[in-house]
Amino acid sequence: LDVARLRDSFALVAKFGDEVPLYFYSRLFLNYPDTRELFPVTMAEQRQHLVEALQKIIALAEDPAGLTEYAGKLGVTHRRFGTRPGQYEAVGQCLLATLEHFAGDAWTPELAADWTAAYTLVSGIMNGAALEDEAENPAWYDGLVVAQEWRSFDVSVVHVTVQPRMVWTPGQSVPVEVPGRPRLWRWYSIACAPPCEALEFHVRVVDGGLVSLPFARLQPGARLRMGAPAGEMALRSADHDIVMVAGSTGLAPLKALLMQVAELDPAPDVEFFYGGRSQEGLYDLPWLELAADSHKFLTVTAVPGPASLTDTVMKEAHWRDRDIYMAGPAELVKSARERMTAAGVEPDRIRAEDFGWGEPE
Ligand SMILES: Cc1cc2nc3c(=O)[nH]c(=O)nc-3n(C[C@H](O)[C@H](O)[C@H](O)COP(=O)(O)OP(=O)(O)OC[C@H]3O[C@@H](n4cnc5c(N)ncnc54)[C@H](O)[C@@H]3O)c2cc1C
Ligand code: HEM
Repeated sequence: LDVARLRDSFALVAKFGDEVPLYFYSRLFLNYPDTRELFPVTMAEQRQHLVEALQKIIALAEDPAGLTEYAGKLGVTHRRFGTRPGQYEAVGQCLLATLEHFAGDAWTPELAADWTAAYTLVSGIMNGAALEDEAENPAWYDGLVVAQEWRSFDVSVVHVTVQPRMVWTPGQSVPVEVPGRPRLWRWYSIACAPPCEALEFHVRVVDGGLVSLPFARLQPGARLRMGAPAGEMALRSADHDIVMVAGSTGLAPLKALLMQVAELDPAPDVEFFYGGRSQEGLYDLPWLELAADSHKFLTVTAVPGPASLTDTVMKEAHWRDRDIYMAGPAELVKSARERMTAAGVEPDRIRAEDFGWGEPE
């Protein structure tokens, strides 16, 4: 494999921007109509995935361990999309035709051979990992809503029982697909520690969002699907004292971690900072205050807007010598992380989950 040649040809093709995935998917859906039903109705955000994946694969071409890990995870992820092994050939053909189309005169038999070899390698790893995972885990989990409650005008707490049994660690999230939004998967953190009878989700309705509103409104009896739990938001050490910072529904993964910490003996000290747009936005404060009343290791500071949660944490928390866990709006996570690392906190002591949506800090 001539990696430099692959990289150069991809750079040439990538110059055509969004035209590349548009061409690829049009070709795929026209020639292999059975693949269309696997994708959501609107393809705008999906187009990005193809180019990003190719970029990543080229970046990892000279790092076999990194490539095996990335492609392996991707193969397992594809199980919940319903991808069948036979469809890899269809995707490979369309991908090569797309590259040839945009590379123009630069396309040579050698380049075609390189791309074929690269695709065969990656799809082989993906299929192998998917097959291995099949022996241990379901392609997805079926969820049944057993309770739903609005806690504020835009935050709903939804309880969901799961089939078959799911194994997860506190702090992890699952991709969720709700009725009426087929093939649109969004990540939600599990807000309880195993073994909770029903998974608890805290769903914030995001303005203009496609999935959060229908998810928040699900009533008991509704069914949904979940993918495999994942995420790095796990307890780093049982011995280090902790600062937790939750913005809005960023409380969810931290609540699961708090439940885990409460089981430790002795439990490390936890300073919990909980922020929201207003007092009403602190939708689970009573639970936190009750926990603080019954556990000496926990202190809770509520920071209703417009006070800045980051400013309060920087001023009042003992973040310099503790492990830090935070979750919620992108701006919160970004600004708190930047200010702490600029002040000398080792990046490894910070565990953070950026929920993506924005809320000015
Ligand atoms: C690991 C993980 C765990 C998560 N856990 C939870 C959880 O427990 N609870 C929860 O409520 N949410 C959680 N989220 C967020 C959740 O996955 C969805 O992104 C969210 O619910 C919005 O989905 P949607 O389909 O409604 O919005 P989409 O249709 O995806 O659109 C989102 C809207 O927000 C805008 N937007 C997107 N990103 C930004 C940004 N960075 N700044 C400003 N605006 C932006 C878009 O333009 C669009 O208008 C988590 C996200 C991740 C990655
Ligand atoms: C080497 C081959 C492939 C690569 C590198 C690849 C890459 C990707 C990536 C990066 C994603 C986004 C994953 C996520 O959201 O977490 C994705 C999603 C998806 N892929 Fe693939 N894929 C490959 C093969 C296939 C095949 C053969 C099919 C079957 C037709 C397929 C169908 C899908 C579907 C349905 C989705 C979900 C919708 C989306 O997010 O685009 N993929 N793929």
